[in-house]
Amino acid sequence: MAMNEDPANLDGSNPEEARKPVDPCTIVIFGASGDLTVRKLIPALYHLFTENQMPSPFRVVGFARREKTDESWRAELKEGVHQFSRTKSVDEEKWSTFSSNVHYCQGDIEDSKAYGHLSDLLAGFGDDRLCQNLLFYLAISPTQFAPVVANLSEAKLLRKGEQGRSWQRVVVEKPFGQDLVSAQRLNADLLRFADEHQIFRIDHYLGKETVQNILIFRFSNAIFEQLWSRQSVDHVQITVSENLGVGARGGYYEEAGALRDMVQNHLLQVLSLVAMEPPATLEPESVRDEKVKLLKSIQLPRPADLAKQVVRGQYLAGEVDGHTRPGYRREPKVNPRSNVETYVALKLFIDNWRWSGVPFYLRTGKNLPLSASEVRVQFRPTPSVLFAAQLGTRLDANAISLRLQPNEGISLRFNGKVPGSTMRLRPVRMHFGYDAEFGAYTPEAYERLLLEAVAGESTLFIRRDEVETAWKIVDSIRRSWEGRPLTEREFYPAGFWGPVAGDDLLAAAGHSWRNPQKA
Ligand code: BG6
Repeated sequence: MAMNEDPANLDGSNPEEARKPVDPCTIVIFGASGDLTVRKLIPALYHLFTENQMPSPFRVVGFARREKTDESWRAELKEGVHQFSRTKSVDEEKWSTFSSNVHYCQGDIEDSKAYGHLSDLLAGFGDDRLCQNLLFYLAISPTQFAPVVANLSEAKLLRKGEQGRSWQRVVVEKPFGQDLVSAQRLNADLLRFADEHQIFRIDHYLGKETVQNILIFRFSNAIFEQLWSRQSVDHVQITVSENLGVGARGGYYEEAGALRDMVQNHLLQVLSLVAMEPPATLEPESVRDEKVKLLKSIQLPRPADLAKQVVRGQYLAGEVDGHTRPGYRREPKVNPRSNVETYVALKLFIDNWRWSGVPFYLRTGKNLPLSASEVRVQFRPTPSVLFAAQLGTRLDANAISLRLQPNEGISLRFNGKVPGSTMRLRPVRMHFGYDAEFGAYTPEAYERLLLEAVAGESTLFIRRDEVETAWKIVDSIRRSWEGRPLTEREFYPAGFWGPVAGDDLLAAAGHSWRNPQKA
C-alpha cells in the first residue's frame, strides 16, 4: 500500500476531515477532578478545537467538589494534555483561546443548591444558546447518575423530551449497572428525567476508527461479505488482551472483574458488529436494531454447558516484558483471597440462519503478554485432497484478521508455494495498515464520541435494550462461577496467555487460539 506522504497530517490532524454541523453549546462535565476528565475528555475537546470541529461559540464547565479556580483548573488540564494526549504537545496560542472557554463550578453533586450556582454560571455566558443547549457528561460513579439527573431536572437545566430549538443531552460512562436488574433500575431512573433520545451511553470501543470500519469492511466490499457465514467460516476469535494488571484500580475491579469490565460492553459490541445483518439504512435506530437483534440471537449457555463454554482466570505473580508483576491478590485494594476474574474466555453460538453452529470464541485478560485487540475470522479448511492430502494439518486454513489496535490494519492469510523444487507451502499475508495508507492520523475514541454527542448522533452509543440484552448474556455466564472459589487450573502467571483451561476450551473442538503478534 502506498505511503501517505502528505506532510499536513504529520502533526496528528486530519486534512481530509469535513466540519460536522454542531450547535453552540456548553459541555458540563460532572467528575471534573477525575482521571477520565484529565486524561481523555479535555485532551479530546482540545484536539477537536484545534481541528476546528468545536461549535462556535462553546463553553466547557467542570463540576466537582474540590476547591479550584478557573485558572488553577486550566493549569491542571494543560498539564494533562501535555502528559496524556495523543500529540503530547500544546500549541500555546490555541490552548489560550481554548481554555478561555473553560470554567470551573465548585459544588457537591448531592446538594441541590449547587445546581443553582451552575445555572447562574451558564446564564453569565451571555449567549442564550450556551445556557439552553447543554451536554451533561457524567464521568462519575453510576450510583450518582440518578441524583445528578434529578437535580438537573429540578433546576430546569435538563428538560425531558425537549425537541424544540434547544436541546439537553446526558452522556453516561460505563459501568452501566452491575447486572440486568441494576441496569434496568438505572434506565428507569434516568428515563424519569430524560427521554431515550437524550441519553448517550458510552462504550469507547465504538469510537475507535477500526471498530467503525468493521461495518464498512463488511458491507462495502462484495468479496468479503459473500464469505461471511457458516458456509465458509469455521470459527471466529475475538481477543482483547492487555499487558498491564489492574494497577491502582483494584477497588473498582473487585466489584467488576473482566466479565463486567470488558465483555459486557467492548467484546459484545465488537461481536455484534462482526456478526450482525446489514441494517436497512445508516440511521441510528436501524443500525442499533440490527445490533440488538444479533445480541438477542446469542444462545445463552445452558447450565449443563457452562463448564464447556466459559472459562475464567486470575493472574499470579509473573513477568511481562521484563517487568515483574505482583499477583492480582497482592494488588492495592484487592482482597487477598479474592476470586475476581482477570481473564475470561467464552465459546458462544449465534442462533440464526447465517451463523448457526459456528463457534465465536471471545477472550480478554489483564497481564497477558501484549496489549492487542484483534478479530480473527478463520475460514473452513480445504477438502482433504491435493495439498491437504500431502501436507495434512500443516496446511493452514485461510483467515482474515481485523487488527483493532495497535498497528491498526487488516490482513488476509492464504497459502503460497515456497520457491524451490520441492512442494512446500506456507501461509503468506496480504496486509493493509492504517498508518501506511492514511498517515499518522489516529484520533482518540473520545474525540469522535464527544463530537457525535454534541452533534446529537446516537449511532455510536448504546441503546437501552442493547445494554439490557448484553447484561442478560453476561448474567447467564456469571452463573458459571458465582460462589465458587477459583481452582488451580484457573490461575495463570502474569505474562502468559491465560490459564490452561482457556486453551482446553478451544481444543475440545480441534481449534486453538491464534495469539495476536506484536507487529
Ligand atoms: C476500559 C476498562 O473500559 O477499557 C479497562 O475499564 C480497560 O479496564 C480499557 O483497560 C481498555 O481500553 P483500550 O481502549 O485501552 O483497549
